[in-house]
Amino acid sequence: MNIVIATSEAVPFAKTGGLADVTTALAKALQELGHDVSLFLPYYQQKQSTGAAADFPMTSTGFDLSVPIGGKTRGGRVLRTELPDSDVGVYLIDQPLYFDRPELYTENNADYQDNCERFVFFSRAVLEAARMLDLRPDVVHANDWQTGLIPALLKLEYSKTAEFAQTGSVLTIHNLAFQGQFWHWDMLLTGLDWKHFNWKEMEFYGHLNLLKTGIAFSDYITTVSPTYAQEIQGEANGAGLDSVLTHCADRLVGILNGVDMSQWNPKIDPHLAQNYDAATVADGKPACKAALQERMGLPQRAETPVLGMVSRMADQKGFDIIAGCIDDILAQDLQLVFLGTGDAKYEEYLTQLAAKSPDKVAVTVGFNEALAHQIEAGSDMYLMPSRFEPCGLNQMYSLVYGTVPIVRAVGGLADSVVDATPENVRSGTANGFSFVDYRPEALASALQRALAAYQDRQQWRQLVATGMSADWSWQNSARRYVDVYQQAIQRQGIMAA
Ligand code: ADP
Ligand code: GLC
Repeated sequence: MNIVIATSEAVPFAKTGGLADVTTALAKALQELGHDVSLFLPYYQQKQSTGAAADFPMTSTGFDLSVPIGGKTRGGRVLRTELPDSDVGVYLIDQPLYFDRPELYTENNADYQDNCERFVFFSRAVLEAARMLDLRPDVVHANDWQTGLIPALLKLEYSKTAEFAQTGSVLTIHNLAFQGQFWHWDMLLTGLDWKHFNWKEMEFYGHLNLLKTGIAFSDYITTVSPTYAQEIQGEANGAGLDSVLTHCADRLVGILNGVDMSQWNPKIDPHLAQNYDAATVADGKPACKAALQERMGLPQRAETPVLGMVSRMADQKGFDIIAGCIDDILAQDLQLVFLGTGDAKYEEYLTQLAAKSPDKVAVTVGFNEALAHQIEAGSDMYLMPSRFEPCGLNQMYSLVYGTVPIVRAVGGLADSVVDATPENVRSGTANGFSFVDYRPEALASALQRALAAYQDRQQWRQLVATGMSADWSWQNSARRYVDVYQQAIQRQGIMAA
């Protein structure tokens, strides 16, 4: 199958969160299954968390784009490279005016004002480049609001050309909380007829909504865990789109993300003080823990449990319920290690916490790939008390690294972490701790259970072993995407007939 994946983030070129890990890993897994994958993303020249695209060997395809946008035409170059250690072709859309900036979407806590224009341009540029390159995709896979316009452009414009007449479209929702909502006049940027600015297609309470656009026009919709696929069809988690999503339940499916074992694997991870696997974790983890304690300036105490957290500092991630029970937490013999960046209020709160309790709390504000790996390996437990979590990757990375996750049972966290209830411990399925209510007390009590289990060395070894034995590799999920692509192509055919 010939697959085009369009995304605003992909490691190692640009990353703010899990989307970047997922698009790259999925592209590689699909290619390994024998499909032909082309990955499209903007050419961000400046360093974007993980690196700068400009640092990779790049060739020009020789194609110059001319993209209509809001009554004007904007040019762009199409550059080509490959995903490292694979032959997945990566096409980068180069337009410095839009993408040569210090950040991806926001600067100083404010969105770039022309985000709509930037990603409408990118969406059009992807299809235009695919046409010029004569890729003739069987399916185009868009991700999140940034590429939400693509299914609409395919259906309303490109499907009228021979090259795209049979192309199916898939939209993956990685996070319903970000919908790409803009004022109605931005409709003019899309170049689509105002008749589509209606409540069934592109309009949402008077605004242009690019995620809703993608939902309305794609042949198939996926999201990143089965539980989240259910949750978003209810009012509490539907972010206003629940009825739209319920309406298309017959073409909506949740596929759990996997782990890219070439990147997140303690056996070969180049960032660790000592590599280990399930057989050598009893040796390797203490070494990584000591190295982490040293790096973070915490007392090197082997017996004190270290709790790690690597996260965007956002309301989604549960920092408010951590703050709500922080006195209870710090009354225990433990150490907390945080790495993250985002909302100033959480950055400041945690920085102050570390200043007040330097022997127990260490915080690094910023984006640091190596440290993220070192925290996964050096912690005993991993904290992820999310308010909502479409999938979540760090709880799975934790399981792979023998680090026991403590999570709220929502979305992908509920689909990957099995709570250590007496019954689950007996049956050997438990791999972590979870709680249901979004309340500080519920988190504190799950943590108490985890700390008690930590004292029982045999039970702890069992939890670690169960976590490390699971298979989170992308092959299974990639196969499920292939099924979805086939369904999308079929549906496209039926709708076109
Ligand atoms: P989300 O996509 O909602 O942020 P995920 O758990 O799916 O959450 O993915 C987050 C990804 O981003 C993980 O790979 C995590 O290690 C990484 N990450 C988040 N914040 C940082 C940071 N400050 N430094 C390094 N990596 C980070
Ligand atoms: C989003 C979600 C996260 C998910 C990631 C990758 O950023 O918040 O839960 O793991 O996308 O799909």
